[in-house]
Amino acid sequence: MNRSIIDLVNKKKHKKISAITSYDYTMASICDEAGIDLILVGDSAGVVMLGYENTIPVKMEDICLFTGAVNRATKNAVVVSDLPFKSYNSTIQSVNNSRRLITSGADAVKIEGGSRIMDKIQAIKKSKIPVMGHIGLQPQTMIHEKCRIRGSTKEEAVRLIEDAKLLEKAGVFCIILEMINYEVAKIITDSVNIPTIGIGSGNYCDGQILVIHDMLGLYDKVRFKFVKKYLSLSSDITNAILAYKNEIENNEFPGSDNYFSMKSSEYKKLKTIYGVN
Ligand code: KIV
Repeated sequence: MNRSIIDLVNKKKHKKISAITSYDYTMASICDEAGIDLILVGDSAGVVMLGYENTIPVKMEDICLFTGAVNRATKNAVVVSDLPFKSYNSTIQSVNNSRRLITSGADAVKIEGGSRIMDKIQAIKKSKIPVMGHIGLQPQTMIHEKCRIRGSTKEEAVRLIEDAKLLEKAGVFCIILEMINYEVAKIITDSVNIPTIGIGSGNYCDGQILVIHDMLGLYDKVRFKFVKKYLSLSSDITNAILAYKNEIENNEFPGSDNYFSMKSSEYKKLKTIYGVN
């Protein structure tokens, strides 16, 4: 096993970091074998795996279960698991829940927020658990806040840049920048010595992440400009399921290649017992 956070951090400025979400064994195996650097067991699982409207209802149990599956699949990529909504209300709760994620198989945890959660990040770091930061659009705040691009005014841009510096000071090993204007993401990337991983924040970031269901075209309910669809899997799967259903109804599946037959000598004996022609 070669899941090294240090190797990942050392990529800053000389090789871009590839990151993707995964929540199950099969997808994580494919991502790991393809050489992805970082697999995030994100709380986006609440939407794409569990069918909730947003990430708010996701529980620690959910992320622990998905983390176990991803851990069993992953030999090389660094596995980071999200601390879900309300799992880090106090420093003690943050540390205990981070330990649960590490015990389930994560190499590090991710926590949403900037200056407001410094004490939690410091406490988790103190317990020797690597932490990834996440600023810009923070899906766990979406009940109070709008889904909009961040860093469009000078004031908000300064807050984001200062938050990134604070996160670095608190000891995070890398920061997700979600839906932040390109110019601001660029200043952040140049202002910190740890990698920035962008999602909807332009190509100057040290790496990129997408939700796997979005980039494979598996989940089409919400479309963001920053999501590039590399496949249209939901329509490919629909076509495959329709073909399967059709073949069952027309008695074309299973074909003779898809089932097993007795030796004719044994069948002959069986037929005599039951009087079959
Ligand atoms: O939960 C998640 O998948 C995330 C990514 C969108 C970065 O936080």
